Amino acid sequence: MAQLWGGRFTKETDQLVYNFNASISFDQKFFRQDIEGSIAHVCMLGKQGILTKEEMQAIVKELDAIRADVEEGRLAITEEYEDIHSFVEANLIDRLGDTGKKLHTGRSRNDQVALDMRLYTRLELLYTDELLRELLRALLKLMEENTETIMPGFTHMQKAQPVTLAHHVGAYFEMFKRDRGRLHDIYARMNYCPLGAGALAGTTYPLDREYTATLMGFDGPTLNSMDSVSDRDYVIEFLSALSTIMMHLSRFCEEIIIWNSNEYQFVEIDDAYSTGSSIMPQKKNPDIAELVRGKTGRVYGALVSILTTMKGIPLAYNKDMQEDKELTFDAIDTVKGCLALFTGMISTMKFNKERMSDSARHGFTNATDAADYLVNHGVPFRDAHGIVGQIVLYCIDKGIAIDDMSMEELKAICPVFEEDIYEAISMDTCVNKRLTIGAPAKTAMEKVIAAEREYLADDWLDSDKWTEKYGK
Ligand code: ARG
Repeated sequence: MAQLWGGRFTKETDQLVYNFNASISFDQKFFRQDIEGSIAHVCMLGKQGILTKEEMQAIVKELDAIRADVEEGRLAITEEYEDIHSFVEANLIDRLGDTGKKLHTGRSRNDQVALDMRLYTRLELLYTDELLRELLRALLKLMEENTETIMPGFTHMQKAQPVTLAHHVGAYFEMFKRDRGRLHDIYARMNYCPLGAGALAGTTYPLDREYTATLMGFDGPTLNSMDSVSDRDYVIEFLSALSTIMMHLSRFCEEIIIWNSNEYQFVEIDDAYSTGSSIMPQKKNPDIAELVRGKTGRVYGALVSILTTMKGIPLAYNKDMQEDKELTFDAIDTVKGCLALFTGMISTMKFNKERMSDSARHGFTNATDAADYLVNHGVPFRDAHGIVGQIVLYCIDKGIAIDDMSMEELKAICPVFEEDIYEAISMDTCVNKRLTIGAPAKTAMEKVIAAEREYLADDWLDSDKWTEKYGK
């Protein structure tokens, strides 16, 4: 075991305690961020004259070399180190001797880990945003192609009124757009640099915290050193945003599972995104959609777990906080995987348009419009409602749709009906008369689609500059 302390101790740490305490098995995930933060720290120490220029240059060069050695497989991150911070520092000292021992001047692992986690989360937030943007692009394409694809809209899982596939998909577009907005808000709040907070009370060295913050693309330094080392709000906010993304994905998956069922047959999931059964040859299962729905619980779990971990922690740093990592990493990887797979699944899925519009036509989704027709011909709404109720009963009995009724049949129930009723209750009219902003009519949808297209043209933050540094 390679330890960063020793002076005060007369005995070795028990091996089980050491293992229990160690975090290298998971915090190696932010190895690049640890090096990046150390380089910024050392550059600042050099600028401030706390280290000589030569010392600064030697340390930066060696930190870069360690990064390259790990990336290119010449140096393995092994469990003999307690955490990623010890690994980097011990390797630096191995290579530079006493100069390497100066890296940690004016720094504690408490502000170091706070920085690493923030850098890591910030980058992952950008990647998540990009995956959401990809998904929105796929949804927009579906919307553009389906402003005339009629399908039933549901309430209580009962056919209610006709909508279009573009309109239905558009609802999810709004959800995922809000998800991106949440990420952008979190980014703005979290983008402050905790480095320089020390263990909890700052340091006596004349650090330039503004400088390190700028070097790492932060909007400035954090303003309270105790808060800096113990704030994990941004992790919680991010997990909350990730949970909401999963909730949206899960709702959509639930619909796809229903639409893919033998009874509905609204969609066919591409072979590449379905699986078969080991026993039943006829099966083609929507496993991806089910798995995304299932993994939602796992992401919620991370959120609840970290909220609970944080609730009893007094100021400032306490080791409980090490528990923020594994679950957060897992949640991030889960959501990114789900977003990528969902986008692939939805972009390759076939929509059975005929089946969808037939379903709308045979579900009395035009009953409201039949009542509106009567109202427009002077019948009070409550009476119209009752008359159309009778018509529906009649149709159910005969196994037909309202538009299949003859003029005589209609007039027998209410003489107000004329020939133009057929036009008034056609699926096309029902949808395209709903013209208000946000309604499914083709012309209303086209305006929305144009606005969404404009929204997607703005890239927000480009992660390319981060990708150059950290790789994907
Ligand atoms: N592995 C620790 C964590 O994740 C790093 C900080 C350790 N600080 C300390 N005082 N033991 O939180």
